[in-house]
Amino acid sequence: MKHFLTIKDCSAAELAELIDFSTQVKAEKKSGVYPYRLKNKNVAVIFEKTSTRTRCATTIACKDEGGHAEFLGTGDIQMGKKESIHDTAVVLGRMFDGIVFRGFKQSTVNALAKYSGVPVMNALTDDAHPTQIIADFMTIKEHFGKLKGIKLAFLGDAQNNVCNSLLIGCAKMGLDMSIGAPKAYWPTQDIVDYAKSIAKDSSIIMEEDPIKAVKDADVIYTDVWISMGEENLPGSTKKFHQLTPYQVNEKVMAATGKSSTIFLHCLPASHNGEKHINEVTEEVFSSKQSLVFDQAENRLHTIKAILIKIITESDNGK
Ligand code: CP
Ligand code: NVA
Repeated sequence: MKHFLTIKDCSAAELAELIDFSTQVKAEKKSGVYPYRLKNKNVAVIFEKTSTRTRCATTIACKDEGGHAEFLGTGDIQMGKKESIHDTAVVLGRMFDGIVFRGFKQSTVNALAKYSGVPVMNALTDDAHPTQIIADFMTIKEHFGKLKGIKLAFLGDAQNNVCNSLLIGCAKMGLDMSIGAPKAYWPTQDIVDYAKSIAKDSSIIMEEDPIKAVKDADVIYTDVWISMGEENLPGSTKKFHQLTPYQVNEKVMAATGKSSTIFLHCLPASHNGEKHINEVTEEVFSSKQSLVFDQAENRLHTIKAILIKIITESDNGK
């Protein structure tokens, strides 16, 4: 595994190994064991978009493992202004042992991977959020003891980066996935077709009725209705209106028919703002069924596992 760019690029065995390795590194940290697997390794962390979890997880992961993360916001570097992505990638590749990128275009992270010569981790683009899915699956496995056969229902904007990556991840790892969203916000046909083509023993269902979508679900997952970069696009009032029936509330949680259903959200979440913009109610967000803060903590352990894996496996002797 040279890079970690999309869930699509990873085999089911690699995903399973990453989840198990994340559990191992979590246990190590809890018992004060620091094996310094990134000793003397320097990681460039380029963020075009804001972040709390992913940025902090990357910094702490490098520090815990004896390495260093150099944060480069868009205001700090020449890339995209005075310098091309190609030239930036080559320069960073001469100095650093790995690159972490969060931003808009998937093509940017792909180009950094292509031209830098060092391992690259995708920390979120408009299209994908692959590191998130490793933490989500780790959290599900911690709670239910398995992934295969778990039914995950995603409600809301099913065209966004998180849902795209979840859909492919569920198909690869044998989780049943059902999507509850208005047709206008269903994932694009190419992603659905790809997910269906690789889903061997699991189902993928698209539903316009949120109550039908969550029936028998073990996990209800949602994400913000307006993703980063979409804030100033026209039509947000219409989008809120279209997605309101897909808000995760107590009625939706009860509609699974299982008292064991858990609630997940990648965070940040809108749960205590004006009612019409909340993808989840305060009651569900702060309920016992909500594991969102376990999920957030697991971003640290999973990002650490991913960085160790890609950087140590392609050790170029720098
Ligand atoms: N879930 C997630 O990626 O959070 P941040 O945007 O805070 O990194
Ligand atoms: N879909 C959200 C995820 C944030 C972690 C966004 O892109 O803003």
